[in-house]
Formats: sequence, C-alpha cells, structure tokens
Amino acid sequence: MACDPRGNRGICLRLARSARAATKQQRCESADAGEMDCASKVHPLKLNRMPVRNTTARWGAVSQTLHWVVVALIITQFVLINLELDLPLGAAKLALLAKHKSVGITILMLAAVRLIWRWLNPSPLLPDTLKAYERAIAYVSNTSLYVLMFAMPLTGWMMSSARNFPVSWFNLIQLPDLVAPDRELYRFLHETHETLAWMLVAVAGLHVLGALKHHFLLKDDVLRRMLPFTRTPR
Ligand code: HEM
Ligand code: HEM
Repeated sequence: MACDPRGNRGICLRLARSARAATKQQRCESADAGEMDCASKVHPLKLNRMPVRNTTARWGAVSQTLHWVVVALIITQFVLINLELDLPLGAAKLALLAKHKSVGITILMLAAVRLIWRWLNPSPLLPDTLKAYERAIAYVSNTSLYVLMFAMPLTGWMMSSARNFPVSWFNLIQLPDLVAPDRELYRFLHETHETLAWMLVAVAGLHVLGALKHHFLLKDDVLRRMLPFTRTPR
C-alpha cells in the first residue's frame, strides 16, 4: 500500500515500522548480526521453527513424529495383548488379536520408513563429554531397539502363518503367509515373540533411564532435541 503523508498518518507509521522490522530480521539472519539484540524481539516459536529434516544438533519434525508415534503404538500393543490374553476364546478375543496384528504391521511399516529416513538424514551428534563406554551403550541400545521394531512384528506375523491364521491390515489388505502351517514352528515362534517382548521392555526401560539421566543429571540437550517445541541449538 502506498503511503501518502498528507492522508492517513497511522498507515505511514505502520509501514515504516514494518520496513524497519524487515531490515532488522534480514540483518539478524545474516552472518554480520554481531552484537545486535536479535533474540528478545522475535517470537519464541519463530526462534525454534521446527526443521523437517534432522541436523547434527537436533532431530527434525519427521524423526520426532515417527519416534513418538511408534512409542505410542508399542504401548498400545502391550495394552491390547493384555486385554486379549484375559478373555475366553470368542469374537471379542479374536477382534483384539486382529487389532494387535494390524497395529504390529503398522509398526513394521513405520520402522522401515524410519530407517530409510535415518539413512537419508544426518543424525544429531552425541555430546563431546560422553565417555567411550557411554557412546557404546547408546549405540547398542538404539541398534537393539531398531532390531526389535522389526523382529517383534515379523515373529508375530510368522507365528500367525505357522498357526494357519491369516494376517490382514485393519481388514483392508490381506497379507501373504510368511511360512507354511507347522505346529512346532508356531510354538517356537510364540516363545520367541514373548521373549522379544520382554527384551523390548528391558531395552526401552534402559533407553528411557538414559534419556532422563541426560536431562536431569548431565543437563544436556539429548532429551530436548527429541521433543517438539523445545529450545536447542540448530
Ligand atoms: C512391535 C510389535 C508387537 C509387540 C510389541 C507385540 C507384543 C506381544 C506380546 C507382549 C504378546 C504376549 C506374549 C505372551 O505373553 O504370550 C504378544 C502375543 C501375540 N502376538 Fe504380538 N506383538 C507385536 C506384533 C505382532 C504382530 C505384527 C503380530 C501378527 C501379525 C502379532 C501376533 C501375536 C500373536 C498371534 C500373539 C499370541 C496371542 C495369544 O497367545 O493369544 N504380534 N505380542
Ligand atoms: C518403546 C519405546 C521406544 C523406542 C522403541 C525408542 C526408540 C528409539 C530409537 C531407535 C532412537 C534412535 C533415534 C532414531 O533413529 O530415531 C531413539 C532416540 C531417542 N529416544 Fe527413544 N524410544 C522409545 C521410547 C522413548 C521414551 C519413552 C523416551 C523419553 C523418555 C525416549 C527418548 C529418546 C531420545 C531423547 C532419543 C534421542 C537420543 C539422541 O539424540 O541421541 N525414547 N529412540
């Protein structure tokens, strides 16, 4: 809008103010911001505009969403199966088991997307202060969680095939059988699935303790950089 000083003075003042703000924002975003007071005048959410991709300093929106959605689905799996195991054989039990299978297949698909996204993106670096054994623990536990996110659904799927029960994804897509019906194999896979579930509980428990230790004892950014709407360096 053009500014005619003989007309509305308010518009002229507002235009001048927004031009000054735009110039300041440009300078703040450029390398020569120097000692300028940039942070205090910008809305806090703008400081933290969430990047979609990861950087070496924080997880991007895609990784964070995948992480927390999968956490919620894994918790759902334990709730569903505990409800199912308490029921006598009947329609309600089978319906819960079908939901458990569909949610499990969803976890399998998201784990694949997550791994591909991880390969295509940088991962945030661990703090320099970590000792070699702490880095090793972080590496082994993250790798084990990935292995379990694949192994749990695959053993469940194979177990259902071995029992000659078809697996569908929310009744929308019928999935192929992974193995031929086999009673012995079914029993073995059932036990494996159960053991892996306990391993998942143990490793995820350690993982959570690690995240809390970083936040409350080491007071670094490791937990914050996996949480949306938090302040960390880019
Ligand atoms: C991350 C994904 C999954 C988790 C965390 C999970 C977890 C569990 C747990 C804790 C049990 C109970 C074991 C027991 O005490 O007997 C179980 C049982 C079972 N799961 Fe999964 N599961 C997952 C994926 C799947 C998938 C994808 C399928 C099939 C496509 C499946 C099929 C089954 C079956 C058939 C049982 C036995 C139920 C029964 O004995 O009545 N699971 N699962
Ligand atoms: C079943 C539950 C969980 C699974 C399977 C899981 C899995 C993972 C995996 C595989 C990573 C590696 C990063 C990636 O590639 O995405 C990761 C990172 C992370 N997780 Fe979890 N997670 C679980 C629960 C939690 C919970 C409850 C918390 C919070 C207390 C948490 C906090 C974190 C943090 C802070 C990171 C980033 C670590 C870093 O920056 O180095 N996770 N998680």
